[in-house]
Amino acid sequence: MIVTIDGVAASGKSSVSSGVAQALGVPYVSSGLLYRAATLLGLEASLDLHAAPGLLALLGAHPVRLEPLAGGNRVWQGERELTDDLHSSRVDRGVSVVAALPEVREWVDAQLRALPEPFVAEGRDMGTNVFPHASHKFYLTASARIRAERRARERPEDVPAIEAALQRRDELDTVQSAPAPDALVIDTGPLDLQGVIDTILTRLH
Ligand code: C5P
Repeated sequence: MIVTIDGVAASGKSSVSSGVAQALGVPYVSSGLLYRAATLLGLEASLDLHAAPGLLALLGAHPVRLEPLAGGNRVWQGERELTDDLHSSRVDRGVSVVAALPEVREWVDAQLRALPEPFVAEGRDMGTNVFPHASHKFYLTASARIRAERRARERPEDVPAIEAALQRRDELDTVQSAPAPDALVIDTGPLDLQGVIDTILTRLH
């Protein structure tokens, strides 16, 4: 069984996926963390983020591993844990460029498809490209302002700056962010976290 939860940036996908996964007693898989890891490592190595060959060589030489857990995902490169470094504004700004590279998308997709079921998968294209056969598909939306207000509670930046950065990322991510035709689209604006989780769990029972 695979449940996919896709959606726009900062729509609450990770928290919702974690809550749904815990209720189901299965891990959740955060695909965005792999794109973020590729971006972080590319930035640290001063690589051109538009050029796939250098990035793929780096990722091939020093493999990155996603550890899917119900409570939160962790990302490793050998013995080094990358998790805490993946949500900086620098990574936010570069990640859409890296995610637009087909070779990087193949690298991410291969890792995701190798994971043992069951799990909840969250990202942009889980229900469309990676797991089109998933048993249940959801897509989370909310206005950019509401998402920026939520994220401002996690980051030391003001709401207008976060909102502008989110809108820019939405635009850059448009290609891979369309909801699957068979996904239930949930506007999370009027709901709190538990409300979104409950909406999804109701559909699963
Ligand atoms: O989900 P999160 O916001 O952490 O994802 C970071 C970035 O990774 C997105 O802005 C997008 O560019 C990329 N991404 C993607 N496809 C996915 C998941 C994430 O292109 N399935």
